[in-house]
Formats: sequence, C-alpha cells, structure tokens
Amino acid sequence: MPSTLKIIFNSLIQPKTGACVIFVGDDLVIPLGLKKLIGTSAANALARAMTAENFKGKEKAALTLLAPPNMVADRLIVIGTGTAKDREKTDYVNLGGAVMGRLGSAKQATILFTGPNGWRVDGQAAADLSLGIRLRAYKFDKYKTKKKDDNGASEGADSINIALGDVAAARKLAKVSESLAGGVIMARDLVNEPPNVLDPVEFAKRAEVLKALGVEITVLDEKQLAKIGMRALLGVGQGSRKESRVVIMKWNGAPNKKGPKGAPLAFIGKGVCFDTGGISIKPSGGMEDMKGDMAGAACVVGLMHALASRKAKVNVIGAIGLVENMPDGNAQRPGDIVTSLSGQTIEIINTDAEGRLVLGDVIWYVNEHYKPSFMVNLATLTGAILVALGNEHAGLFSNDDTLSERLHAVGQVTGERVWRMPLDKNYDKMIDSKFADMKNAGARNAGSITAAHFIKRFVGETPWAHLDIAGTAMSSPETDINKSWASGWGVRLLDRLVADYYEI
Ligand code: BES
Ligand code: MN
Ligand code: ZN
Repeated sequence: MPSTLKIIFNSLIQPKTGACVIFVGDDLVIPLGLKKLIGTSAANALARAMTAENFKGKEKAALTLLAPPNMVADRLIVIGTGTAKDREKTDYVNLGGAVMGRLGSAKQATILFTGPNGWRVDGQAAADLSLGIRLRAYKFDKYKTKKKDDNGASEGADSINIALGDVAAARKLAKVSESLAGGVIMARDLVNEPPNVLDPVEFAKRAEVLKALGVEITVLDEKQLAKIGMRALLGVGQGSRKESRVVIMKWNGAPNKKGPKGAPLAFIGKGVCFDTGGISIKPSGGMEDMKGDMAGAACVVGLMHALASRKAKVNVIGAIGLVENMPDGNAQRPGDIVTSLSGQTIEIINTDAEGRLVLGDVIWYVNEHYKPSFMVNLATLTGAILVALGNEHAGLFSNDDTLSERLHAVGQVTGERVWRMPLDKNYDKMIDSKFADMKNAGARNAGSITAAHFIKRFVGETPWAHLDIAGTAMSSPETDINKSWASGWGVRLLDRLVADYYEI
C-alpha cells in the first residue's frame, strides 16, 4: 500500500512532540548549536545516558532517552555517525531507513539534521534521508484484518519533520526522492500481491494507472498477440484460464525528439504472474513464492512510474510479457515445438523454463518496432543464479561492455549490485536442439548462462543487458530500507542509470 507518511522540511527549530532525533560522531560531542536547540538539561541527561549505556557513537548505533528533562519531545534519540572516515561515505538512504526503524511508537518525529564536523547535511543528503525513511516505512498489510499491535497502537510514525539549513534545496530534491520511492513501492506492491488477485489482466490494469502521469500505454490481448505471432509467449499461457497480455509503456520526456539520439531506451520485464512449472511441475515446498515471478515486469512498471513522475528528460519504452504458467489439459508439453515471433523454432524440453520464452518474443518485438539504443531486461529467470550469487548481486549478462560498466557503477552507488557473468559460443551450443533451432533448457550445469544465451538469440546487434533477479527481487534478507518480502529491486538502479548517463 502506498504509505501516507508525510515528510516536511523546515529550518532548524525547537523540536515538538513525539521523537527528536539527533546525530553524534564517535567523539560523542553535542555541538553547541544543537545543545541550544534541545536544551542543556536534556543534553546533560543524554551525556550521562551515553556513558551509562556505553554508547560509542558507532555508525547507525542508537540510544533513546525517554521523557528527556525540560523538553517538549517525549523521546530523544541519538544516532551514531561513526568515525570521520565513516562520515565521508555515509549512505544517507540507508541511514534514513535506520532512523525510521528507531522511532519506536512515536507518531511524529523531528530530525535535527545538523551534525558532527565534516558531515554532509545538505539538501541532497536530506532528500536521500527522506527516500530511506519512505522505503523503510513501507508495509504490505492490506490483507491483515487486525492491524493494531497488542497495546492497540498501530506502529510507525506518520509525520516526520526534517529540520536543516538548506530547506529550499531539500524540498526540491525531495520531490525526486518521492517519485523514486513511489516507483519502488509500486513494484513492491505488485510483487507482494497474491496470484489470485494479480493475474495478467489485473497486472495490465495496474500498469494502465501510469496514464495519469503521461505515460502512453498499449495493452495487447491474446487475439492481437496471435496476430503479431508471439507464439512462444502464448504457448506458456495456453494452459491457464487467465488470458495473457503484453503491455507497452512509452515515456517521451526528451525535449528534442529528432536526431540519432532520439532512439528510446528500452526496459523489458518477465511477468509470470504465477509459475507452477506447468507440466514440468515444481515441487510444492515454497511454490507460493512463485507469485513473485513477475518481479521483472513489476520493476519495469515501477521504473516507468519513477521516470514519469519526476518528468525525466529521456525517451523510454517499457515492455512486459504477462502470463500464468499452469498444468492443464491444454498446457504446453515437453517435446512441443513452437515458432517464435522471430521465426526461430524452439523445442520445449522443460515447461518450467518459461520466462525465456516470454522474453524472447517481447524483446524481438521491442527491437523491431522501436529500434532502441539499448535494451535491458529483468527476470526472475533461474534458481541457478541463487546458487551462484545468493541474494547479494543480480546476475548481469551482456553483449556490451559500456552498458555493463555503467550498470556496475550505478549498482555500487545504489547498493543494488550486479555481477557480470560470462557468455560465449561454447555455452550457446548447449541449447542447440536435435529437432528445432534451439531448445528451451540446457543441461543442469551453467543454468543461468544457458538461459541468458537463449535470450541473446532474440537480441540481434542492439546493446543489451539481461539481469537475472531471482535472488534479489524477493525473499532476500531484510535491510535498513526494506522489511517487506518484495524488495522492489532494480527501480533505483535503473532510475540512476538513466539519470547519470542518458538524460539530456
Ligand atoms: N521462475 C523460475 C526461477 C526462479 C527460481 C525464480 C527460484 C525465483 C526463485 C524459472 O521459471 C524456472 O523455473 N527456472 C528453472 C529453469 C530450468 C527448468 C531450466 C530453474 O531455475 O530451475
Ligand atoms: Mn519456471
Ligand atoms: Zn519462472
């Protein structure tokens, strides 16, 4: 659910009711200006509490003083910023998340964003802080009928004041953070939604909401997809009672549409709303997680939301293939041969290797129709990528060094990290088929790489990157900025890629 959290920016003021948050370094010094704001009695009580609790001001460590003497605020929370070296590379998004996590039962909070010497407390830092706060505040509890805790209070602050010097800059930059948070939250909501609610038709409807932001949307139904010739995609959905869909989203934000630079960027997502495996059915343990097999598509929609709502100066195509993979009397069989939109034929070896079939058709379509300057696709494609990289990196497969380096760089900045994996003709051979141009599954080994090679056969010469997000999009360890099952992984990464390298 989109949070109703209000964040406002003010100049440094006397904290009001609720919680008051301040920052200290590892020297535990409370600067004179800050002492004046919170009052000497509270500052002295805090100094005693820090000693009593052996608080050392380590990065993100926190100490709470309840009912601080002579303060209106009913709790004073001190957060450590670590050593001078730590402070040089503070991640303000994560810090925002950590602060949000320390507010306890306070309904309101004032963050006195002033700090130890040499610590950035500018508008961008404050905007990043607000992004982390919003992401941490996210909860998916729409299906819980009892939302209150044991004391009858629903947890979480609903109004936060960030008090700082450069209010004007913070307000302006925080609008961008809010767009970004909106995109991440939209992606998380889609991934968390149960599969009986979020089928391909409903998913397409939710994408259509982006029309309100000025995104052009085309929804292709099964009849249109058959006419176009997306038989690989349709084969995956043919065992489901739910109809398949492809959604094309266009954001035309570049000021000058003419010229060779006018070619759009393209982002393509796997949207398998539920993956039972089909006739090659999966074991039942953990199968419920396969409601998240549309996380690639969710990321693309969240990204389009972020770009459109911050009016990014760039032309972008978002395309998602939406299907449900079910066993059925009409389901696709191992041994079937399908003709993809590209004209290449595919022998189905395993109906559980369905994501690549969906992506192959959508990627071919996007490349032919929009001649994009690059294509990035996202997919919860293989269990094998979890074996290789765990939850820490998404697998990156690419035919282009520049695009790969850029993705790697923005991964380091946003914390949504990628790790490049190899592609070469010896792996590619592993998906040659006895009966058709290719088969949809190789042998057991190198499963993520052969999956990437399958997709590559639908890419042509266009610069392309495939991100295998099976380990990062869902069910990954909780962090300071995410306590939800779905992470919304990729929205911040790709927004940053666009902002840093492609906006005019
Ligand atoms: N959606 C799965 C991959 C997956 C696994 C995503 C775990 C998230 C968590 C994909 O469609 C799949 O089933 N892949 C198979 C491919 C195999 C049959 C060649 C796999 O990884 O086992
Ligand atoms: Mn599968
Ligand atoms: Zn799948």
